[in-house]
Amino acid sequence: MTTATASDLAINGGTPVFESNVPFMAVGLTKKDIAAANEVLESGMLRAASKCAALEEKFAEASDAKIGLTCANGTCALQLAYGGLIERGDEVITPAWTYIATVSMLVAAGAKVVFCDCLEDSYQADPADIEKKITPNTKAIAVTHLYGIPVDIDAIQAIADKHGLKVIYDSAQAHLAEYNGKGIGAYGDACTYSFYATKNLGTGEGGMVTVNDEALAKKIGLLRSHGETDKYLHESIGFNYRMNDITGAIGLSKLDTLKEETDRRREVAELYASRIDGIEGVDRPVPTAGSNPAWHLYTCRLDLEQFSCTRDEFCAALMKEGVPSAVHYPKPLTRQPAFSDLADQEATTPVSVKLASRVFCIPIHQNLTDEQVNGVCDAIAKVADAFRK
Ligand SMILES: Cc1ncc(COP(=O)(O)O)c(C=O)c1O
Repeated sequence: MTTATASDLAINGGTPVFESNVPFMAVGLTKKDIAAANEVLESGMLRAASKCAALEEKFAEASDAKIGLTCANGTCALQLAYGGLIERGDEVITPAWTYIATVSMLVAAGAKVVFCDCLEDSYQADPADIEKKITPNTKAIAVTHLYGIPVDIDAIQAIADKHGLKVIYDSAQAHLAEYNGKGIGAYGDACTYSFYATKNLGTGEGGMVTVNDEALAKKIGLLRSHGETDKYLHESIGFNYRMNDITGAIGLSKLDTLKEETDRRREVAELYASRIDGIEGVDRPVPTAGSNPAWHLYTCRLDLEQFSCTRDEFCAALMKEGVPSAVHYPKPLTRQPAFSDLADQEATTPVSVKLASRVFCIPIHQNLTDEQVNGVCDAIAKVADAFRK
């Protein structure tokens, strides 16, 4: 019988790197956020009013966009942007490697979905593959700044300009991300955001569309609220996708500290990069040139050929060391039952398929200390050493 030592994995009875688990994310409200929500509750003005208007103005400004439109959530934001820019039957190129809503809302808008693949090191939509998939029927490119890492905006905009395409950026994970020194709101036809509870700016549910064109903002505004141009005068068909002022007040309050929190995420990412580069077989995200990510998620990938375990076994061992992780995402969209009619496009999106069995996200948020970040890296190195062939 062998006796466990500190260098043994905790799953085998060794001493874990952390006595108690590192928090995976930082969620919740401060006293200031709660006071802001209470102020609205006490006022009785619960519908979208001054708080939503102020959030639209301040968030758009912080993102270098001209106009912001709050809405109920990030899925509604996508529907509003697509509703403003895409016609039924339009062919739209979109990644097979993203969250489902980017694509399911294209289907809901009646678009024909053409999947592009992603780049293995940045995880972002591959511009060369986008260009390959353009046909005479292509009308738009709808891509995600996945994990908070901006896509190669220059390359995508050049393709869009060449072929006369609209560009929608799903920025649900990319609040305050930058590209070539400007906020991502400066680029494309529309950016859509989610303020879901776990997002970098989390209000519970909530969302925003930012645009730089008055006419498009007007169209989206009408779609958001029953096409109403005057009291009970409905110019067009629309939805009720409005935010409320309680959510608006929480968003405004949280926006005060978002830049500082995002900068701390960036420091954590830098420390992760410097340490993970020294761990054989574990690859870290490589941001797109010219980008300054928001680091919603820090997604690493395993070179499985170097290990005797699966990704899930690796993550289970990490968990026992006190390091929770998450898989975004366990399947490429070509394998989602909801998209069975798009499954044949898997043959043209091999990187997305490959990533699904290899990626894992490690803790990243503003409350992590350098000591915790180093401990997470120690745990990854320990597990990698134990499983390396
Ligand atoms: C990339 C992406 N797009 C869209 C959404 C949808 O946002 P919501 O959950 O606010 O509807 C999310 C939320 O997880 C997301 O991550």
